[in-house]
Amino acid sequence: MSNQQHHYQQRRQRLMDALGSDAAVILTAYPERTRSKNIHYRFVQDKDFYYLTGFEEPDAVALLRPGHPQSFILFSRPKDPDQETSFGARAGIEGAINDFGADAAYSLDELDVRLPELLDQRTDILLGDEQERLGHKVWQWCNYQRRNTRFDQPKVYRRLRPLAEVLHPMRVIKDEMEIGRIRHAVSASCLAHRQVITHLKPEMNEAELSSLFNLELARHGCVSDPYPNILAGGERAMCLHYDHNNQPLDAGTLLLIDAGGEYRHYAADITRTYPVSGRYTEEQAIIYDLVLDALNAAIEQAKPGTPWNRLYDTAMEVISRGLVELGILQGSWEQVLKQGSHKPFSVHKTGHWLGLDVHDVGPYQDEQGRWRPLEAGMVLTIEPGLYFGATDLRVPERWRGIAIRIEDDILITADGNQVLSKSAPKTREEIESLMS
Ligand code: GLY
Ligand code: MN
Ligand code: MN
Repeated sequence: MSNQQHHYQQRRQRLMDALGSDAAVILTAYPERTRSKNIHYRFVQDKDFYYLTGFEEPDAVALLRPGHPQSFILFSRPKDPDQETSFGARAGIEGAINDFGADAAYSLDELDVRLPELLDQRTDILLGDEQERLGHKVWQWCNYQRRNTRFDQPKVYRRLRPLAEVLHPMRVIKDEMEIGRIRHAVSASCLAHRQVITHLKPEMNEAELSSLFNLELARHGCVSDPYPNILAGGERAMCLHYDHNNQPLDAGTLLLIDAGGEYRHYAADITRTYPVSGRYTEEQAIIYDLVLDALNAAIEQAKPGTPWNRLYDTAMEVISRGLVELGILQGSWEQVLKQGSHKPFSVHKTGHWLGLDVHDVGPYQDEQGRWRPLEAGMVLTIEPGLYFGATDLRVPERWRGIAIRIEDDILITADGNQVLSKSAPKTREEIESLMS
C-alpha cells in the first residue's frame, strides 16, 4: 500500500469508528459519460468516493463493513487490453488490492451476485450515491437477502440512510494532506491571477486571458479546474457565474475574474476585480474600497468560536453603512440592514466551505439551527460583492455599470486564520502598480 493510501485508510477507519458493527457503507464512483460516439467528457470522480479510497476510475463501487476483518471491498473495471489501449490503464483486481489497500476486490461484473452476500446481516446501510446510479439496485440487494435467508435464520429488515449525514461533517475539518493540496492550488491560482493582470489591457478578449490563467496553473501542476473560469468584463459581471469568456474588454471598464485551479482534486476559488485600463475611475475606486473593507472586516472575525453567519453579517454591516454614506441608499444603516434594502446590490452569500468541491460539503448549522462555530482545520471562502447594473434606475447614474467581487480563501487556525490567497494582489495600489 502506498504512502498516500495511509491517509485514505485513516479516513475509512474514522468513518467506520463512528458507525456500529451492523453498518455497511455503499460508495459509488461517478460513471463515465459519453460526449459523442467514443468520445467521453473529462471524468471527474465522486468526491466522497475519492475522499475514502483515492481511487480515480469511473463506475467502481466500494463497500465498507465496520468491525469485519475484510472491511474494505472494491468492485472495479477488470483489466481489458483493448479498452486500456484506447482509454488508459485500469488498476484491475490486483491493483485494487496492492495499490489501493482493498481487503478483497472483484470485477464490477460480479456486483449483483456478491454485494447482497457481503452485506451480511447488517441492517444500517449508508448509501453515498450522488448520481443515483445504483439506487434501483440497492432495494433488490436488500431484498435478495430476505428471500435467501435460511429458514432457521432471522430475516433482517434494513434501514437505508444517506452517507452524507455522517461523512460530510467530517469532511469540513481538513487533514494535513488536504491542507497541503489546497495551499498548492491556491498559491498556483494567485500566480495565475498575477499573470493575467500583467497582460491585461483594453481590447483583449476574455478568452485570451482565461487561457493565460490556465497556462500558469498548468505550469504548477493544476491541470483541471474545480469550476469553469469566470472572466467577466463590465456589465457581464452582473451574471455571477458568467462563463462564456469570449468578449473583448472595453477601456475604462472592470474585469471580474473568479477563477481557481485544482491541485490533485482540491480546489482554489479566488475573485479579483481589475481595471481594464490599469487605473480605477473615482467611482470604481470608491466601490472597490467598500467591498474590500467588507472583506477585511469579515476576515478579522474568521477565528475559532465565531459562528458561521457572523462573517456574512459583518460584511453586510460594512456594505450597508457604506451604501448609506454614499447616498446610494436612504435611512440609517441599521434600517437598511433590517429591511434588506442592500440585497438587490449584494445578492449572494459571502462564502462557503472549500475543499474537494469548490462549494464543499458539510453543514453550516446544527440540528437545532444554530450556526456552526468555526474550528481550526476548516477552509472557507469570504467573498462580498456589490453589483450595480448599467441600466439600474435605483442607483444614481455615476455608480451604474460597476460590478465588484473580491474573494479570498481562508484556513482557520488554532489562534485565528491564514489568508491562503494573500499573494493575489488585492489593494488598489498593488493592482495599479502591477499594471503600470
Ligand atoms: N466561483 C464560485 C464561487 O465563488 O462560489
Ligand atoms: Mn466562492
Ligand atoms: Mn469564486
